[in-house]
Amino acid sequence: MKNARIAVCKNVNGWHERFMDSLSALVTENSNLTCHLVNIDADNWIAQLADFDVVIWKPNHMGIESASYFKEKIYIIEKYLGKTVIPNFNTVWHFESKVAQKYLMEIFGIPTPRSVATFDYQDALKRLQEFSMPVVFKKSTGAASTNVKLIRSYDIALSIIKNIFCKQAANQVKKEKGRFLGLISMINLRSWFDRQLSGPNQPVVYWQEFMPNNPGDLRITVIGNRFAFGFWRKNRPNDFRASGSGRIDYDTPIPVSAIKYCISINDRLDFDSMAYDLLFAGDEFKVVEMSYGYVDSAIYRAPGYYELVGDVLVFRAGNYWPQEIWIKWGLQRIEAITAGIPGELAAVQHSLPQPDGSCS
Ligand SMILES: Nc1ncnc2c1ncn2[C@@H]1O[C@H](COP(=O)(O)OP(=O)(O)O)[C@@H](O)[C@H]1O
Ligand SMILES: [Mg+2]
Repeated sequence: MKNARIAVCKNVNGWHERFMDSLSALVTENSNLTCHLVNIDADNWIAQLADFDVVIWKPNHMGIESASYFKEKIYIIEKYLGKTVIPNFNTVWHFESKVAQKYLMEIFGIPTPRSVATFDYQDALKRLQEFSMPVVFKKSTGAASTNVKLIRSYDIALSIIKNIFCKQAANQVKKEKGRFLGLISMINLRSWFDRQLSGPNQPVVYWQEFMPNNPGDLRITVIGNRFAFGFWRKNRPNDFRASGSGRIDYDTPIPVSAIKYCISINDRLDFDSMAYDLLFAGDEFKVVEMSYGYVDSAIYRAPGYYELVGDVLVFRAGNYWPQEIWIKWGLQRIEAITAGIPGELAAVQHSLPQPDGSCS
């Protein structure tokens, strides 16, 4: 293997410590590898990464704002600094966006409950008529089932859509009742009307067909294109939702076809690490959601992990931290990238002429 200098980014969740533990063993065996901790939260993070070829970073970003700052840095590292970063941009760009994931499911034909993601009020009304109740409404962002609701009646579904699109709905009312509003504007009621109907700046509605008779979901976490962990999550009592219930079942057997399929998604879409939530209709599974974020201790408590060797899924018994497996996968990526490249990894040069015409 050619030389590779690896930066491990510190994070409050402590993932970096286990990355460093696993890397230290590798560095001892392989003199071409070096690894150091860096503080990617600091202002000078770009300068700090200058001497490295590979960046490994697993923040605990939850929520749309921190996830978007995270994605920005991953994009810069990969595209403009020309470094290998784990996770890569393919893995993270759709994190915290079920809407974005829906596009991938559609393009790649991934089996999923029939889903709607629309930014258009009239379109939402039309699509709703294509569904029988109940349906599952979700916000695009969120975890642990917090933004997931079962809607049993058409009228409630309709009122949710109207609330989300209240500006578009108000415009329609204005068009229909234009003359009436023209009159009330004289007594300044029109701006009151507008204020009452102000909605989200970027309305979007997302819902899925309801998959009945699932006492829980199957969580398959894939790392790279050959490692996977699996466990079941039971629903909360008297609830259809499993995510965030904390009721993990490591004992019920997991269908091999589901594990192999999720590994194949990682491979095809070039994901470094992805957790898939699966529900079943009889023997057929559907991918309800995929997410880059997951809890390492839930993985560690699994009785082992699966490794795809050729076409065969081999079970490796024992307790493993995902960080260990990330490093196994990372090494595979580093080897693939460095193979055939003479010397060290070449850093991409991006310099623009200075205002005075010189080069930086
Ligand atoms: N279409 C669906 N039909 C039935 N149950 C669903 C459906 N979608 C989600 N669920 C249940 O709700 C839970 C949370 O949904 P999910 O989309 O995974 O959101 P979160 O991001 O909060 O984990 C899932 O774990 C599953 O048990
Ligand atoms: Mg989920």
